[in-house]
Amino acid sequence: MSVIFPEGFLWGGAVAANQCEGAYQEDGKGWSTQDVAPQGIRGPITEVPTEENLKLIGIDFYHRYKEDIKLFAEMGFKVFRTSIAWSRIFPNGDELEPNEKGLQFYDDLFDECRKYGIEPLVTISHYETPLHLSKRYNGWVNRKLIGFYERYTRTIFTRYKDKVKYWLTFNEINSILEEPFMSGGIYTPKRELSKQDLYQAIHHEFVASALAVKIGHEIHPQAQIGCMVLSMPTYPLTPNPEDVIAAMEAEHKNYFFADVHARGYYPGYMKRFFREHDIKIQTEPEDAEILKHTVDFISFSYYVSICETLNDGSRKPTDLFGGVPNPYLETSDWGWQIDPQGLRYVLNMFYDRYQKPLFVVENGLGAKDELIRSDDGELTVHDDYRIKYLNDHLVQVGEAIKDGVEVMGYTSWGCIDLVSASSAQMSKRYGFIYVDRNDDHSGTLERYRKKSFYWYKDVITTNGQSL
Ligand code: BG6
Repeated sequence: MSVIFPEGFLWGGAVAANQCEGAYQEDGKGWSTQDVAPQGIRGPITEVPTEENLKLIGIDFYHRYKEDIKLFAEMGFKVFRTSIAWSRIFPNGDELEPNEKGLQFYDDLFDECRKYGIEPLVTISHYETPLHLSKRYNGWVNRKLIGFYERYTRTIFTRYKDKVKYWLTFNEINSILEEPFMSGGIYTPKRELSKQDLYQAIHHEFVASALAVKIGHEIHPQAQIGCMVLSMPTYPLTPNPEDVIAAMEAEHKNYFFADVHARGYYPGYMKRFFREHDIKIQTEPEDAEILKHTVDFISFSYYVSICETLNDGSRKPTDLFGGVPNPYLETSDWGWQIDPQGLRYVLNMFYDRYQKPLFVVENGLGAKDELIRSDDGELTVHDDYRIKYLNDHLVQVGEAIKDGVEVMGYTSWGCIDLVSASSAQMSKRYGFIYVDRNDDHSGTLERYRKKSFYWYKDVITTNGQSL
């Protein structure tokens, strides 16, 4: 590839605590919303954690992280994105004192990363709100969550200021828009939740996120604190101006989140939306000032693009991402439309809009893998489909860099196989490293390098020249 990725480009991989750690109630950890969601985001939740839930053991990262980080180091990772499970630090979320054993676990984990020169990139809240906060307070609908989150962030910024420089406040904060309101930990079902409450919860998250930026910089002036949004470029299905406007309005729903984080105030199109839906956000006098603490960078996940149209005929309401299918694109085994150029597009859109550094913190292909014995006797996976997907997307990151976009780094999602968020399966695999665990809970939890492991190692070693 002719593009030179910038010197110091942060190559790496990403996971989330609830999808890999397991040890769901070890060392004082409290239950999180994920511990009672055995079937993923669309399935029913249970009263208490049940064995059916693969996440309770995950890939046992809690006990095997040393082995896994060694493998990441072997690939040459410069950065490793993971989350802190809030309920390891504050088991219920509303305690006054943190759980020392939980804090110690992340001390050890970050030390292990640093031992290999790997920078941790830490998501403060990745879909794993303490269950008690969800049930007792209805999650972020309640303003008290700001105070609980503030205490939590103060605790972890203070504790890890010498070990962690890069932070993300909420994973895919815009995921709150659709049930089960992942970033919001809201307990009320969608059919009963008013728009007023939904947007009030979003406001609380915005204030908490900006407060985290403020506090983070006070405690650690060199800290780089970003927001994290689910990006999903939305194309008009046809050149009909009605479709163009439908696409623009769909884009606004997502841009809203990055706009507030990057600019520090609500955009006009949302004020119109609030007026027209009779939504009156309750604010405190200090909120406007707090929101001015804008993020240092914008990070996002990128998996799919969608189309919008005013013609409802082709809409499939059950689609996870909404919108309508793009006839030009192929889909993954799980029906996600694959659009590498959409990544260049979205990088340009964000950069044109904010002129802030961007970080691609999730991208990857969930696919079924087959473990086979190679000629040299090693167990491996010939995942050429994953290599192609990632290569095509990284070439587009390169194109965006040529366009002048400032890209800090790229962490592919699920750099080691883990439990899927949407379907709660192990068989939806993203990793460079195969983990022997199956949907029926069988497996040794042994790790094996896939073909893509060596491919990614090459990409990192050559700083993208091998693409
Ligand atoms: C993102 C989430 O939405 O997509 C991750 O931040 C998730 O937690 C990833 O795992 C891939 O989705 P899935 O459903 O295939 O695991």
